Amino acid sequence: MYKERIRLASLLDKIMPADAAAALIRDGMTVGMSGFTRAGDCKAVPEALARRAATEPLRITLMTGASLGNDTDKILAEANVLARRLPFQVDPTLRRKINAGEVMFIDQHLSETVEQLRGRQIAPVDVAVVEAAAITESGGIVPTTSVGNSASFAMQAEKVIVEINLNMPAELEGLHDIYLPTPRPGREPIPLTAVDQRIGLTYIPVDPARIAAIVITQKDDSPSSALPPDQDTRQIAGHLNEFLLHEVRAGRLAPSLQPLQAGIGTIANAVLHGLVDSPFRDLKMYSEVLQDSTIELLDAGRLSFASASSVTLSGPVYARFLADLARYRSRVILRPQEISNHPELVRRLGLITINTALECDIYGNVNSTHVGGTHMMNGIGGSGDFARNAHISVFVTKSVAKAGAISSIVPMVSHVDHTEHDVDVIVTEHGLADLRGLAPRERAQQIIANCADPLYRDLLQDYVTRAGRRGGQTPHLIEEALAWHARLREQGTMSATPALAAA
Ligand code: COA
Repeated sequence: MYKERIRLASLLDKIMPADAAAALIRDGMTVGMSGFTRAGDCKAVPEALARRAATEPLRITLMTGASLGNDTDKILAEANVLARRLPFQVDPTLRRKINAGEVMFIDQHLSETVEQLRGRQIAPVDVAVVEAAAITESGGIVPTTSVGNSASFAMQAEKVIVEINLNMPAELEGLHDIYLPTPRPGREPIPLTAVDQRIGLTYIPVDPARIAAIVITQKDDSPSSALPPDQDTRQIAGHLNEFLLHEVRAGRLAPSLQPLQAGIGTIANAVLHGLVDSPFRDLKMYSEVLQDSTIELLDAGRLSFASASSVTLSGPVYARFLADLARYRSRVILRPQEISNHPELVRRLGLITINTALECDIYGNVNSTHVGGTHMMNGIGGSGDFARNAHISVFVTKSVAKAGAISSIVPMVSHVDHTEHDVDVIVTEHGLADLRGLAPRERAQQIIANCADPLYRDLLQDYVTRAGRRGGQTPHLIEEALAWHARLREQGTMSATPALAAA
């Protein structure tokens, strides 16, 4: 069966077991692997690396598109293979190692990694490992459920290992649109002016001489870990729908809105899911990951087209999508993450972006990555690529975490990923703060009144009133600004009256 997938016959003698292919990767190398939000990750070579690390020194820099599935980051972290990791991860074991200072994690805007590689600003990729559905007659690599950074890794690496995954349907061919920015100086504008436009190839063009090994696999992607919508996330979706409807009524948006982007995770997925019951029609997505909610919107006829860099679905929806590819293929495109997240295109297409905050402050600065200001959660992902350049930049969060012990609205965020200048709208289950055109003092009033949990509202109001008396464009009591986080660390809650938080 694999012979039909490797259409350049001269490459057939490159087929070898994963352990033999992994031997091409040596201690100290930089490896670029496919995989974006658990989709299209290579499955056999990383396991072989972990096995080898048990008997010989093997530490690498690992670059991917985004997070990996199949516990790959866990397996590699436990085997101590990872010296450096970029640009994103979501694995609890790797997270622990990062926060213990044992793995150096470079948390990057997802559109930037390959640009830095291209400019030789970071160490070049020695070996690329890319999952594929097929290799074309010219040696071109047909990716599977994600493109991520695979095209640039494969085109730049000295050697390429291809994992042909027989579980991935051959019909994936034609889903991808591989275009990379032209060289500088004199870089051309990216010629994409509509979400559904094709501007590139359906495969990654690679000189076959650099394909050093082919490994045959038969393993599915890991299912999405997003939880189904709950009451809070339904309320968040409701507030956002109301806001968008208001924008339509005011004539600022058409009933088809503008192309949508939504971040990863439970909350963003639930918010998009909420659009199934909205009055909007002919919606389009220009996002980086398509979750279950995208497929529901396509099936419900609400969404007419979706462009992204990966498809990350729960088990049943994944099976349905792959089995029915012929039907979905005319309405879905997968692009390199450099293109799905490109600031030039985000601004040109006028995206409405919906990303998730761990915490927001009263002025609208957002922390999406660092728990308590110090400990890495997942990474900034693509949220910064989108938020800075969006037509309307929305951030969503539940108003409290850990059963009320943590307020997601705080006087000052303990780490800043998105500054107040990149945040137009904040939504929690309590309501929505429309910050457009407001000065910091006005923003604080909107955020406290509409978004904060009642348990913390008076405390925030008291803070902002006292800070306001001291003056400033963005008033703060500097000595108190992070006292909420200090209280959390010392007393286990941000509440000044711990009994209330516990209740
Ligand atoms: N302090 C500490 N922990 C917090 C917190 C806070 N202020 N706010 C939320 N959390 C915890 C939750 O309790 C939950 O913990 P658990 O896993 O132990 O239950 C966890 O963070 C996830 O929160 P949840 O409310 O379930 O939201 P989510 O699954 O939607 O994830 C982010 C939220 C922010 C972690 C996630 O969206 C993310 O990593 N975003 C950054 C990257 C990004 O936006 N990418 C978008 C384009 S890829």
